[in-house]
Amino acid sequence: MKRKAGHFFLGLFALAPTKIVMREAPPCHKGLQAYQNTLHAHLRKDCLPCHDTGGLADKPHSVSDPETSLQRIIAYVNWSDIPKSYLVKKGGNGHCHDHGGTCTSTEAVIEEQLKTWWEQGQKECPNFGNVVTAPLALPTDEIPRVLSYPLASQVPEITGAKLELRARYEEGAYVLDQPRLMTKKTGVKIQGLSIAVNGRWQAGANSWQRVRARVAPQDSPLISTTTLRVAKDRDEDTLAIGIQTLSPTDAFDCHEWERFRKEVLPVIANRDCYRCHGGGPSAYPGTAAKERLNMAVDESSLCRNLLGRGNGMSAIDCALISLPLRGTFGHPREIPLAAEILPSWEEWIRAEEVHRRAPQSLTVNQIR
Ligand code: HEC
Ligand code: HEC
Repeated sequence: MKRKAGHFFLGLFALAPTKIVMREAPPCHKGLQAYQNTLHAHLRKDCLPCHDTGGLADKPHSVSDPETSLQRIIAYVNWSDIPKSYLVKKGGNGHCHDHGGTCTSTEAVIEEQLKTWWEQGQKECPNFGNVVTAPLALPTDEIPRVLSYPLASQVPEITGAKLELRARYEEGAYVLDQPRLMTKKTGVKIQGLSIAVNGRWQAGANSWQRVRARVAPQDSPLISTTTLRVAKDRDEDTLAIGIQTLSPTDAFDCHEWERFRKEVLPVIANRDCYRCHGGGPSAYPGTAAKERLNMAVDESSLCRNLLGRGNGMSAIDCALISLPLRGTFGHPREIPLAAEILPSWEEWIRAEEVHRRAPQSLTVNQIR
């Protein structure tokens, strides 16, 4: 059902790429009401005065307006693993005593509040994601800005990981593109992105829900090449990102060596992607392209770097295929004919994804 809707919008984009302005979903009253009765009431008792407007801490998350408070608080929650949420750890660690406060919350108390909020209504809200980032201000002019969302406050094991995207304002709408996952020491599995303007889920702008990537440590691949447009709401709009699955993973290596050597490497060599991306038989130093995708590496790292930019569920809008084939984002059209890489590369990516679903990946923090 969901998948069908995705293709429907993909079709629309192909027909009329510039003029679609998405409708927005109403705020989720059930979730908000449950929040007001549970965690919000608790924060208003235990976390003031520091986290109220103008309080000691510079992050006013316990303000009286429940909707504003919810938008800020939800960014500290990992719905796929509530006890590991940053809000549980930080809110339950007694830090208020370091600042002269008298709060009494323990980890168990915050965890209980979160679980009741979820059970009493939040779980019935639009499927916005298990993890929601803190909102960032959207730009007000046509100069593209990079919005950078830290992710480790929701999933502490992926320290230093960030989600970045480009945003600009144009003719009554925001144009969002080039989402990128930056990893540090830990590999990260990411799946299904939704967007929220001023905390409201944008049900129509759903193309990034097809994102699924496993990113090796120290990489920063483009994870979708689709551009989203959402209508301006009011002055000083904010954008938050909901993520369906976000977890550490060590399953990002390649297995399908025969396919890789037969279907993928020869095209890279024939088209001499190395000229710009570095490496190859001529040991090119590479251009700026190498910083985005380094090909001057051994075979297994090359495979892993390419695969990190592939998506077997959505081959045509993954960077590995879309950029050199369709010239997306001004990339040179190095591959003139689709038949050179399709369906062979798509099949290679899918075959790799089957390996990644093997038992090793089930040991990490998985969807419930
Ligand atoms: C007496 C003041 C005080 C009280 C009461 C207090 N905090 Fe804090 N809190 C702070 C200060 C100061 C900071 C910023 C410095 C730091 O991170 O320790 C902070 C930071 C935080 C952060 C991290 C914000 C971020 O974006 O990094 C969270 C989450 C938080 N508090 C939750 C709570 C919760 C939940 C309660 C109530 C159970 C609470 N705090 C009670 C003073 C307080
Ligand atoms: C003439 C130079 C040039 C050649 C040849 C070239 N690329 Fe690129 N490529 C670039 C540049 C420049 C970028 C970075 C664009 C940016 O982000 O500004 C890039 C970026 C990419 C990216 C996105 C990486 C990321 O995660 O941001 C992919 C995937 C890619 N190239 C694939 C290929 C493939 C496959 C080939 C060969 C078929 C190829 N490129 C050949 C210049 C080139």
